[in-house]
Amino acid sequence: MTIGTRVPDHGKLAPWRFIVFEGDARARAGDVIAKVFARKNPGAPATDIEVEKKRLTDAPLVIGVVSFTKPHPKVPPWEQELSAGASAMNIVTAATALGYGACWLTGWFAFDRDVLDGLGLKPDEKLAGLIHIGTPTKPSEDRPRPALSDIVTRF
Ligand SMILES: Cc1cc2nc3c(=O)[nH]c(=O)nc-3n(C[C@H](O)[C@H](O)[C@H](O)COP(=O)(O)O)c2cc1C
Repeated sequence: MTIGTRVPDHGKLAPWRFIVFEGDARARAGDVIAKVFARKNPGAPATDIEVEKKRLTDAPLVIGVVSFTKPHPKVPPWEQELSAGASAMNIVTAATALGYGACWLTGWFAFDRDVLDGLGLKPDEKLAGLIHIGTPTKPSEDRPRPALSDIVTRF
């Protein structure tokens, strides 16, 4: 998380904070998600509700990266949100460098105000993502990446 704070931050606004979910807090967060899901999807089968309960239980540690923007004459919200993204990415990179497996995930619940309220976010805060961190059980496979020739132009 220290490395998560060591990010570019125009105006030194620190427009991010972290929520740590460990141990049974992961299941408690899953209960919050599942309750909102059940209320908004009254016909959902019990198996779907179980899936929602386990949203944070795949890894022993989950770090929520919270983004919030402040009015600033020189630093638009876009730049402050990018700083939160940089923070999330730094946590993924730092955890990977320390030998852990790390994955940045969201899902419907990351955009649901009722879930965010239940997880303790303030009304003006957004969830940039949950960084799931644990011991890798197998080497991660890479996937095709865009060819630089498709995404790079010269001005
Ligand atoms: C904001 C954000 C949210 C993401 N949410 C999900 C998600 O909910 N589910 C998922 O499978 N991947 C999600 N990803 C992608 C994964 O973080 C990751 O990129 C993917 O598992 C592939 O791994 P790789 O980037 O190492 O190839 C998300 C990425 C970002 C930046």
